[in-house]
Amino acid sequence: MAENRPAETGFEKLIGKQPLTDEELAALLDTADYDDRLFAEADLVRRQVYGDAVFVRGLIEFTNYCKNDCYYCGIRAGNSHANRYRLTEEEILSCCREGYALGFRTFVLQGGEDPYFTTERICSLVAAIHTAFPDCAITLSIGEKTKADYQAYFDAGARRYLLRHETADPAHYEKLHPASMSLANRKRCLYDLKEIGYQVGAGFMVGSPYQTTDQLVCDIRFLQALSPDMIGIGPYISHAQTTFAGQPNGSLALTLRLLAILRLLFPYVLLPATTALGTIAPNGRELGLKAGANVVMPNLSPVRVRKKYELYENKICTGEESAQCRSCLEQRVKAAGYHIVTDIGDVRR
Ligand code: 5AD
Ligand code: FES
Repeated sequence: MAENRPAETGFEKLIGKQPLTDEELAALLDTADYDDRLFAEADLVRRQVYGDAVFVRGLIEFTNYCKNDCYYCGIRAGNSHANRYRLTEEEILSCCREGYALGFRTFVLQGGEDPYFTTERICSLVAAIHTAFPDCAITLSIGEKTKADYQAYFDAGARRYLLRHETADPAHYEKLHPASMSLANRKRCLYDLKEIGYQVGAGFMVGSPYQTTDQLVCDIRFLQALSPDMIGIGPYISHAQTTFAGQPNGSLALTLRLLAILRLLFPYVLLPATTALGTIAPNGRELGLKAGANVVMPNLSPVRVRKKYELYENKICTGEESAQCRSCLEQRVKAAGYHIVTDIGDVRR
């Protein structure tokens, strides 16, 4: 069929490591016809580069206060129903101790953009973790800051930073965020982080409201220009206390297809099978691993705060202790045909 040709050419080019046109990429994103072959090819590439290794990063959600009001996010400032919390430095260190004992060597400190956590407080926190766990990598995921702030965190010992770009199309960005935020600033942050020397993670939600295939192509082109060390993608999941309440969730199939395409386009990239993926389908993360993902991020937050870090509805892993979450994931990874490696996982090219 004539209309199938761009997808077919796109698939052939993708596995032949040749560049695709926007049209070919869009056609491939829009069809399920190549999914099984995409997953198999992605798995092949991931095994060539990483074998069956799956890297773990311990996630510590240390504050759900946020000054921003992103329309999709459950912890947005405008959600007056959110039950707000902040962990103390001592509580965060105790999460790290628990994580260290469970084998984690990377801690991801994630939070809303909480003004309480000034540059000084973040630096003190990072320095304390760095001193207590000198053999661990510290990742921050705390939003948009000035370059001077990013430099200060780096000097205190942070080496990785996750900041999803959310969408690389400026008009789409405006539909997802209030006027106080801009794609230009988001991109500025990502390039500042790279310049400072961070290993950087970007990414986006799959199926966020108003998203089109052309915007996904735009996301991929942006990622190719940025060349991040990690790409975090997961399905959009609706939350009742947001502007987008009732909007349909992103699809499992499209998320898996994108994971496979990303693995083929970025053979070395760290690609997490995200909590959101495990939330829209019980075996979502396992399927993600089989489609090219090679990172999992078990939750190390204290159980009493887990339900409060509710970016979207029905988030998994909110009732489990860290040890349970860790062993649950270990079994899932094993059942999917891979194995967890607990080293620092520094795979910089
Ligand atoms: N559904 C899925 N992912 C979400 N995020 C925020 N809100 C949602 C939602 N409703 C993602 C964003 C953010 C990351 C921490 O969580 O992409 O960058
Ligand atoms: Fe957290 Fe299964 S991965 S409980």
